[in-house]
Amino acid sequence: MKGIIIYKGKYGATLQYADWLADALALPVFPAGDERPSAFALADYVIMGSSVYIGKLQLREWMLNNQALLLDKRLFFFLVSGTPLNEQARLEQFIGKNVPLLIRQRCSFYFLPGRLVFKKLSWTDRLLLRMGAWLGKKKGEAIVITDYDEVKAEHLQSLINAVRSECGIPVRTGDKDLLKQSAK
Ligand SMILES: Cc1cc2nc3c(=O)[nH]c(=O)nc-3n(C[C@H](O)[C@H](O)[C@H](O)COP(=O)(O)O)c2cc1C
Repeated sequence: MKGIIIYKGKYGATLQYADWLADALALPVFPAGDERPSAFALADYVIMGSSVYIGKLQLREWMLNNQALLLDKRLFFFLVSGTPLNEQARLEQFIGKNVPLLIRQRCSFYFLPGRLVFKKLSWTDRLLLRMGAWLGKKKGEAIVITDYDEVKAEHLQSLINAVRSECGIPVRTGDKDLLKQSAK
């Protein structure tokens, strides 16, 4: 089976996870919109990756535009955010509000912790984050504005295992060390 990784993020956390996945599974990886049309059309399975900004998935538009092509493929999705992994209901909400039902039904989702470096944000994102945190507080939905970096290769293990077993990717000699190397 042929696979492809397509992602959209802003400050590198989603890109980092996509690159680690590409290494571990030996798959081609493309930023959304720059995917090679033939690689996308011929893929049997697609691993999509996206970060979240004020409740919205970066990959949302791309998914809507490519829905028809996605629907005959096996789909995996990794979502990168600042929401703690134990807040499952809030994480599921991001999916419910952003991913079209037909895609959701044939897709497995994986939630990955992200990274925030406040001083590296554009001034519009700083403002947006402050406003989002303020509005979220009123609704009891905290958006973290202090720096954090939880981007670690080990978080990808269950996604890698699922893709390997469902899409028949053999474990090659040395594969088990890829994530360890990536993490360095
Ligand atoms: C302006 C802004 C808004 C954000 N909004 C949310 C949000 O609504 N929920 C959330 O869980 N994380 C939110 N985050 C955290 C990002 O999803 C997190 O930093 C992620 O790692 C970014 O990945 P990227 O660098 O690939 O874009 C926000 C971050 C910024 C800068």
